[in-house]
Amino acid sequence: MIKSMRRPAPFIQRRHLAAVLVAAFFTLASTAPAFAKAPITLRAAADHTVQIGTAIGLPQLDNDPTYRALAGSQFNSVTPENAMKWDAIEPQRGVYTYAAADEIVAFARAHDQQVHGHTLVWHNQLPSWLTGGTFTAAELRVILRQHIISEVSHFRGKIYAWDVVNEPFNEDGTYRQTMWFQALGPSYIADALRWAHQADPQAKLYINDYNIEGINPKSTAMYNLVKSLRAQGVPVSGVGIQGHLGTQYGFPGDIAQNIQRFTHRLGVQVGITELDVRSILPVDATKLATQTDYYNRVVEACLADARCVNITVWGFTDKYSWVPSVFAGQGAADIYDENYVAKPAYFAILRDLLAARGH
Ligand code: XIL
Repeated sequence: MIKSMRRPAPFIQRRHLAAVLVAAFFTLASTAPAFAKAPITLRAAADHTVQIGTAIGLPQLDNDPTYRALAGSQFNSVTPENAMKWDAIEPQRGVYTYAAADEIVAFARAHDQQVHGHTLVWHNQLPSWLTGGTFTAAELRVILRQHIISEVSHFRGKIYAWDVVNEPFNEDGTYRQTMWFQALGPSYIADALRWAHQADPQAKLYINDYNIEGINPKSTAMYNLVKSLRAQGVPVSGVGIQGHLGTQYGFPGDIAQNIQRFTHRLGVQVGITELDVRSILPVDATKLATQTDYYNRVVEACLADARCVNITVWGFTDKYSWVPSVFAGQGAADIYDENYVAKPAYFAILRDLLAARGH
């Protein structure tokens, strides 16, 4: 049994675990000088109350020792930032390239981390043989099925949860007109979940999207979709709330209530799957304070609900953030700056994690 592949301790044990850890923390902190010198990490603060994750990218994992050390020491969950996307995994039809993703899975195993698989069905980062092809709907359905079954089977037993479907909705709650939706209609979602379940019955299966933090037409569409899938017995186990926020926008309201309608009313897990808080550059003290506040509020909302099981930041250092290349003039979105100095948001999360365990 490989340690990194175990499922998290049942959450029913949280209170017991917390009591033991609180005692251990205070004993060590007060008696052991070595412990006092070594700052506590996010994963130590979280222990098993929640998975604390980061997106992880190659080649920085191979080429930047500080990146590698922090990725391994601060987090107990990792999401491959790009290595499990369709263009990386199946660049030619039927030709599967798993080396980069395998390397991340091996890194996770070596560091006793869970892996959040990302992503099987999306409209971005598709190979050109697929987007440029002329396939009938029936052919596309076969292609999608083969891709999902091949990839999920390859990683069977090594993935805690899969983002099976990514970003299926428009802002107004209608379905996004992706190549999948246009060819197959909304049933592609149920099909994808069933195929993934067939290939790895143990993996949790998520639908993931952005701008669904608060209660709004898009998150309500997600709610209605998951409700209808559950009613049909489709294997959906979780909703991924990406959490790409910006200090130039207001904080999404009702985030705790939104999480709870999924966990309490529908009985599914929630994960905060891609948390970051960007700013229009340059950053000033006000933006930094807003960033800290937003990270803090998202983390608190997740920690308030035992079935919000994972908080993942979409990269932990501004040095490799995806933000500047996608949002011109914006950046500074992560919890460490480009020199690996931890920001106030890092310490806010650390405090939140400790507080959730009763400190
Ligand atoms: C981003 C990666 O971070 C970038 O490196 C890549 O160039 C583009 O994709 N929502 C998602 C993620 O679900 O897969 C995206 O990741 C960010 C937005």
